[in-house]
Amino acid sequence: MFEILSAERISPGVRRAVISAPDIARAHRPGQFIILRCHENGERIPLTVADKDVEKGTITLVWQEVGVTTYYLGTMCAGDRLQDLCGPLGKPTHVKKFGTVVGVGGGIGVAPLFPITKAMQQAGNHVISIVGSRTEGLLIMTEEMRKVSDELLISTDDGSFGIHGFVTQVLQSVIDRGAKIDLCVAIGPVPMMRAVVKVTRAANVPTVVSLNPIMVDGTGMCGSCRVEVGGKTRFGCVDGSEFDGFEVDFDLLMKRLAMYKGPELIALNKFRETERGCQCRIPGGAA
Ligand code: FES
Repeated sequence: MFEILSAERISPGVRRAVISAPDIARAHRPGQFIILRCHENGERIPLTVADKDVEKGTITLVWQEVGVTTYYLGTMCAGDRLQDLCGPLGKPTHVKKFGTVVGVGGGIGVAPLFPITKAMQQAGNHVISIVGSRTEGLLIMTEEMRKVSDELLISTDDGSFGIHGFVTQVLQSVIDRGAKIDLCVAIGPVPMMRAVVKVTRAANVPTVVSLNPIMVDGTGMCGSCRVEVGGKTRFGCVDGSEFDGFEVDFDLLMKRLAMYKGPELIALNKFRETERGCQCRIPGGAA
C-alpha cells in the first residue's frame, strides 16, 4: 500500500497529493503515468505524475474531480493509504535539444505539462509556456511553470487574469511575432488540443499532443484506450500517451470519451448518497 503524505485542494475541483512511492519515483520519466486503486473494490484510474522527488521517494499527483474515483481520492487525507499504484506506464516524452519548444497547457493539462517543460528546459531548449483556463480561479501551477519556463504567458477565457483569450490565440501571437518554433507540446481538453493543432498545422510547427482515452489495464491488453492515429489503431496506454497531433482523429477520441457518460453519472449519483460521497459536495445531481 502507498501512503499519502500530504493532500490539498489547489483550485475548485482540482486536488494535489504527495504519495510515498520510491520505486516509481526512481523509474518515472516525463510523459509517463500511473494507474491507481483507492481501495480493494475500487476502479482503476490513470493519472499523470505531475512531479517527483527521487531523494524523498515521492510522486505528486494532480487530478480533477470528475467521477466517483476522483472524488473518492479527494476525500483521502495524509496518513491514508492507496490500495495499489502501478507504474510508471506509457512511453516517456521524447526529450532532446530541439531549439525552441512551446508548451501549451489548458486547465488540468498544466499538471502533466509541468514535468515535460522542466525536462525540455534542462535539455537546453528555449521554452515558451502558454497556460490557460476559463477563469482566474481555475488556473493551476502557474508559479511552478514560471520556474521551468524561459517565458510564461497566461491567459483566461474571460479575461479575469493575464491575457484575455484562448491559449490558441496566444499561441498564434507567438507565431505571428516571428519566433521560430521547433516543437509544440499541447496538453488539455480534446477541443483545445484540436484547436492548437489547427494553428500549428497552418504554421508547419511539429506538434505533440497527450491523449487521455478511457483506460482499464494500462498495459495494452484490454483495448479500451484505442485511438486512431494516421489511420491506424493505436493504444493510448502503451503506444502513447503522446502522439503526432497532425495524425490524431480527435472526433473519434471525443466520441469514445463520451461512451460511458450515462453509467458514470449513475455511479456518481449513487456515490453521492454514501457517507463519503456526502463529504464531497458534488455539484449537480440526478435530474
Ligand atoms: S488501457 Fe487496456 S489496452 Fe490500453
